[in-house]
Order: sequence, then C-alpha cells, then structure tokens
Amino acid sequence: MVGLTKELKSKYDADGFVTIPSFLSENELNDMKQEAQKLLNAFDPTDHPKTMFSTEESGKGHVGDRYFLESEDKIRYFLEEEAVDANGKLLVPNDKAINKIGHGLHVLNPVFSAVSLSSSIKEIANTLGFKDPLVLQSMLIFKQPRIGGSVPSHQDSSFLYTDPPSAVGFWFALEDCTIYNGCLEFVPGSHKTAPITKRFVTKEDGSGTMFIDISKEPAPVVDNSEFHTVEVKAGSLVIIHGSVIHRSAPNRSEKSRHIYTFHMIEGAYSYDEKNWLQPRTKPFTKLFA
Ligand code: FE2
Repeated sequence: MVGLTKELKSKYDADGFVTIPSFLSENELNDMKQEAQKLLNAFDPTDHPKTMFSTEESGKGHVGDRYFLESEDKIRYFLEEEAVDANGKLLVPNDKAINKIGHGLHVLNPVFSAVSLSSSIKEIANTLGFKDPLVLQSMLIFKQPRIGGSVPSHQDSSFLYTDPPSAVGFWFALEDCTIYNGCLEFVPGSHKTAPITKRFVTKEDGSGTMFIDISKEPAPVVDNSEFHTVEVKAGSLVIIHGSVIHRSAPNRSEKSRHIYTFHMIEGAYSYDEKNWLQPRTKPFTKLFA
C-alpha cells in the first residue's frame, strides 16, 4: 500500500478530497472483490423487509425502519429502489438487486476489517491529525448496472455529527469508476466554505429518521457547474473530508460500480446522541487500540 504523501495531503487540504491511485495491492483488491461477491451471493430475499436505502429528504423508501437503524453491528442488505416492483417482487437476479451492504463490515467481516484497520490506514489517520480515531460504519455500495441509484448532494458530517465535525470517509474503488457508471462528484474546496447546516437524525419517538436544520444560515446553494467528476481506477482510495459537498449520478450503464467505504470520527470529540447510527451494543472501534 502507498500512503498520504505530503503532496497528496496538501491536495486534500485544498480540495477536501484526494485520490491515492493503486492504494490496494492486486491481492487485496481481489480478496475484497471476491468477498463482496460472496456476500451478494448470500443474500436471501425471502426474509428481507425490502428495505430500500435512500438519502432523499422525502424519506422515500423505508430508510427509517429498524432494519436500517439497528444495522450498525450487523451485515444487512439494502436494495436498489428500481430492483423491486410495487408489490415487493424482485425484478432482477438477487445479486443484482442490492444497492448496499452495511454497516458493520469493519467489525464482522475479516477481509473488510483487515483493510479498514490496517497499518496504512493508521498512518493516514495520523497524518490527518486524528488523536483517537474511531471507525464507526462501513458499507459495500454496488451501483448495479442500469438501476444503480444516485446519491444526492450531501456532506458526510451531516450523518455522523461530532462537535466539532470530524468525520472522514475512506472510499475504495473495487472497479473502475467513470462518468458512465456513477463516479464521485465533488465541489472542490467546499469543506472550507460550506458549514454543516443540517443533520440526519433519528426521530424522537425512534420511528425513523429525518433531516433537521442546525443553523440559522441557509444551506449552501451549489450550482451544477461547480461539481467536478472524479474518475478513478479499481484499487484507488479516495479520502473524503466530512464537510466537502459531493454526490454521485445514477448508473445507467451496463457496468456495475462496486466500492467499499468506511467512516472515521475523532473519539476525543462528543458524538451526538441524535445521530442515526449509535453504538447500541458495543463502543465504536478504536483504530489506535
Ligand atoms: Fe458521502
């Protein structure tokens, strides 16, 4: 593995994101791809609540149900919205129906745990200035051919809020990510200008999730033209600042876009109890343990 060089760190500081090409060795990449496929093959739709993942503000899909809210220490499956008809019937083969698997892969799956807690990641966390980094959620995201869902414009710290904000995303391309299959799109430098003005929280009665405003300032308005597409090769690592504005387009191509990602926060800062993801059964994983 290669690390976050001085030059790449400067780029990260300026843009709020940076790509490290060929971060994964060929073996690591192959192991992760194989493990992802194994998990896809293990999906059993017969005992699935047909929970669909959506970050849309409308609450479309049953994003708030318990299957989602209690997934931080489990390996659970969330479906592409277009993979299911109105009656909950799958319209594509099982392994092509899954939008993402989460959120406890870094704890429960040996392959993804090894990558998430590796010495290279520790080194990067150190370079980023973390004192007590905690790894708290992990996901495989598949963006299936033709039906791969979009992710609307957002900042990761809205979802994993600490005071002050500290979330950083580690995003590993398991396949080539292009403008055709829904690569990441960023507003470079927005982490310096766009404060976190809203948060994704659990409703007070615990029935689901919602967005709340946490600032009197209006949410930053971003023009389409400000987004830069970031194509990366399989094996790349993209490091994402929790305040940088980013999104990804739907995948209408014939090629999937498999990625693995996990998030880190500063353990020395207070983690908000309203956040959707809570350490219900055990504390978040200490990277420097
Ligand atoms: Fe994100």
